[in-house]
Amino acid sequence: MQVIGHIPELRNIIRGYKQEGKKVSFVPTMGALHDGHLSLIRLAKKHSDVVLVSIYVNPKQFALNEDFATYPSMLEQDLSFCKQEGVTLVFTPDTQIMYNQELYFSLEVHTLNKYLDGASRQGYFQGIALVVNKLFNIVEPDLAIFGQKDYQQFKVVEALVEEFNHGIELLMAPIERASDGLALSSRNAYLTPTQRKTAPLLYSSLVSAKHQIEEGMKDLTTMFDLLKLNLTEAGFRNDYFGVFDIGKLHPVDQLIAGQRYLIAAATYLGKARLIDNVIFTNKKSIKGES
Ligand code: PAJ
Repeated sequence: MQVIGHIPELRNIIRGYKQEGKKVSFVPTMGALHDGHLSLIRLAKKHSDVVLVSIYVNPKQFALNEDFATYPSMLEQDLSFCKQEGVTLVFTPDTQIMYNQELYFSLEVHTLNKYLDGASRQGYFQGIALVVNKLFNIVEPDLAIFGQKDYQQFKVVEALVEEFNHGIELLMAPIERASDGLALSSRNAYLTPTQRKTAPLLYSSLVSAKHQIEEGMKDLTTMFDLLKLNLTEAGFRNDYFGVFDIGKLHPVDQLIAGQRYLIAAATYLGKARLIDNVIFTNKKSIKGES
């Protein structure tokens, strides 16, 4: 496994692999790797000959009040995980390398960032679009893998690939969970042992919403209000919790039979911002009450 911090060197190596006819896949991360990241790497291995993982905590996707300064960093452990998983190349640029000059451009994200995390996190998807666009231009992979855990991020990246003609195949990996249902996240490290015990309530609330809808619940507003109240009483501070259009990501209150929807939530527990979602196919039509 080679660990590379510089762009020209990385490009040379990738060019070499491509000349040999190898398929290159790319798993971008911010490090503090857990089994969720490793599941992406395993999927990448299955679909390609060369797996490249990037580890870079991108300052542009953190708002001033967010946790950039304290974001967990454990490079040695990350590298040993990558090695165990048979990763070919790890790209570990620093900010001098990624943003080595005054920026003359920014990437605005339209429509897809109007709700969900885009509504609550200032500049978040602009920062992601910028860094992913740069990384795609540096790596020029055949395939890139992102997790369903950050479903909105996946849709933004999908639009970026389409609109800027990157010609990269994208795969969405399912959400890896702890045995109690909590979606794995680098930010789970912020939870105290007591909060960690409470945290799975987020996923069970999403599952409960899905089941209630499947069983014909029509009053979605009341259902979500009750689920949010339940979370609040357990100590969460809720951001959003609702049903969203799977493609355009706007909230919906009328569900059409046979269509797929996203139920997504974001909430704070202590210092951690937790997000999670479930995707489901609606069996019966639901006309919203509101
Ligand atoms: P990061 O939060 O490190 O996540 C890297 C990738 O791992 C993302 O595609 C994310 O969706 C996926 N992932 C995280 N938790 C997961 C889980 N429990 N199961 C499956 N996949 C999971 O997302 C980012 O970094 C950054 O925004 C990045 C794309 C690297 C741009 O800076």
